[in-house]
Amino acid sequence: MKLLAISGSLRAASINTALLELAARLAPADVSVELFAGLGDLPHFNADREAEPIPSVLEWRERVRTADGLLICSPEYAHGVPGSLKNALDWLVGGVEIVDKPVALLNASPYSTHAHASLAETLRTMSARVVPEASLTLPVRGKPLPTGGLATDPAVVAGLRASLHEFVRATQTARPPQG
Ligand SMILES: Cc1cc2nc3c(=O)[nH]c(=O)nc-3n(C[C@H](O)[C@H](O)[C@H](O)COP(=O)(O)O)c2cc1C
Repeated sequence: MKLLAISGSLRAASINTALLELAARLAPADVSVELFAGLGDLPHFNADREAEPIPSVLEWRERVRTADGLLICSPEYAHGVPGSLKNALDWLVGGVEIVDKPVALLNASPYSTHAHASLAETLRTMSARVVPEASLTLPVRGKPLPTGGLATDPAVVAGLRASLHEFVRATQTARPPQG
């Protein structure tokens, strides 16, 4: 099973990206979690250019299409979804790549409720399948990172493991029978 992890932050030291990187390390052996690193390379969405073969957009669509599910972890900016993430989603609206795709929404802050709710609403509008059992808030933002990093915080590790477990279960039941 292949999951695509998407961070809504472009910052090198992003806590949202760090959570996704840890999720990738904690994933069971038969589950690969790949981080999509190209959000910042996508041009601004323009409906006039939707049919154009823009390499970064083609790659983004293909990565979403070939993933069994998406793990999204995003900060909130001014009570909204960061523009780069919303822009990436806008490039998918006209296609079928995200339709019925299971999505786990992770949130690094209990205070960032507006962006989380808005993201869930956007994804549902795009006919993605947000999996509530796998979507959770891990209150790590604003706290000093433990010396050994997030991986040494037992609550974070347990939360991510539980989210992945539920997500794999929900994603497997959503897959068409193999063979
Ligand atoms: C421009 C800007 C606007 C922000 N607005 C909010 C906000 O409305 N609500 C909130 O909870 N945090 C807000 N924050 C705090 C970010 O969510 C926080 O810094 C987060 O850790 C950034 O994620 P990252 O570490 O993954 O880059 C804002 C930060 C920035 C830079």
